[in-house]
Amino acid sequence: MQDRSLPISDDEIAQFRAETAGCEERVFFNNAGASLQPKRVVERVIEHLRLEQQLGGYEAADVVAPEREKVYASVARLIKANADEIAITESATRAWDMAFYGMKFDPGDRIVTAQNEYSSNYIAFLQMARKTGAEIVCAPANDTGEVDLPELENILQRGDVKLVALTHIATNNGMVQPAAEVGKLTRRYGIPFLLDACQSVGQMDLDVNVLGCDILSATGRKFLRGPRGTGLLYVRRQMLDKLEPLFLDNHAADWSAIETYTMRPDARRFEAFESSAAIALGLGVAADYATAVGLARIEARVQKLAARMRKKLEEIEGIKVIDTGTIRSGIVLFIHDQVPATHLVSQLAEKKIVVRMSPRFGTRLDAKISALDDLVRASVHYYNTEEEIEQFCDTLAHLVNAL
Ligand SMILES: Cc1ncc(COP(=O)(O)O)c(C=O)c1O
Repeated sequence: MQDRSLPISDDEIAQFRAETAGCEERVFFNNAGASLQPKRVVERVIEHLRLEQQLGGYEAADVVAPEREKVYASVARLIKANADEIAITESATRAWDMAFYGMKFDPGDRIVTAQNEYSSNYIAFLQMARKTGAEIVCAPANDTGEVDLPELENILQRGDVKLVALTHIATNNGMVQPAAEVGKLTRRYGIPFLLDACQSVGQMDLDVNVLGCDILSATGRKFLRGPRGTGLLYVRRQMLDKLEPLFLDNHAADWSAIETYTMRPDARRFEAFESSAAIALGLGVAADYATAVGLARIEARVQKLAARMRKKLEEIEGIKVIDTGTIRSGIVLFIHDQVPATHLVSQLAEKKIVVRMSPRFGTRLDAKISALDDLVRASVHYYNTEEEIEQFCDTLAHLVNAL
């Protein structure tokens, strides 16, 4: 049994890599897009699909019902929540939407967000503002790019704030927002706090009580290394009855009498009846895998690898790392002063190094990033190695020097 107070050892890395089929063939730095799943996650999904093939979907679901029930506890453990505060959805966006569209906004109500807010969330704000007359306020950023906390407090003090919605880590900036500090403010002013933790769950050691968020959304496929088509929603118990799910079906509610229905008592009222048991089970395996590795250890290793990558990238002529923030995650963004991102991404792909192009308008509110060309995003995870970072940076240096 590994001592989990110690950093992840080389032997463990070797084991994690042996359990990750895709990393044998390529250097995989798209963990912020959809990470490589551990073999046992994929196997669990396939095994259940085979059971469905044999028994039929409903009958197979009956067989795995107790295991599926445990998935909620596994997911809750990742963020130190309770199992009844978790809903499993098909994506992070649907999870987020189910909570956001479940809130009631009146004309003049303010939705406060920050500069790195994710595009889909902002589109939802715009739609809500158009429909209800609510207003969107973007709290200014400080010199290092995080939401400026005194400015945020000024905004909250002025009243009429119905919701603070924050993206913990953006899709195109490694900066980690000071979510726990924001949570302290929202608690002080009694304002609901919705945290998009899509890029932080699975790479950071999160605790919803420390973060102070009332609602949190995330995906399975990114740093959690779960199957595609999975998302999760956390709704604090005290918040549950303050939201009205936009859709209700016979899983979310009980048709208790002809003229009435009764909603489920737990967060599963935000789920739909129809869902894939196979990928839900895979999500549970991924959550348990992350817990077994240890989220604090994952966070430490990811930050160490990302810092090393940024340092090596900065040494390459013409490359500029554009991440801001005092605390930076495993998401590394950079540009070259002459070569377009798409070209670098495809050239690296030919050398079996997987990075991703990140569109400049991923977060339109961030004027500094929007003013740049498209970016290259290289996102590391704990199973990546220092050697892979060397290989990536050496290959990149060769590519740009040869142009
Ligand atoms: C910060 C952030 N929020 C939300 C999402 C949306 O996740 P999903 O595609 O699972 O809906 C993403 C996806 O890239 C993201 O980076």
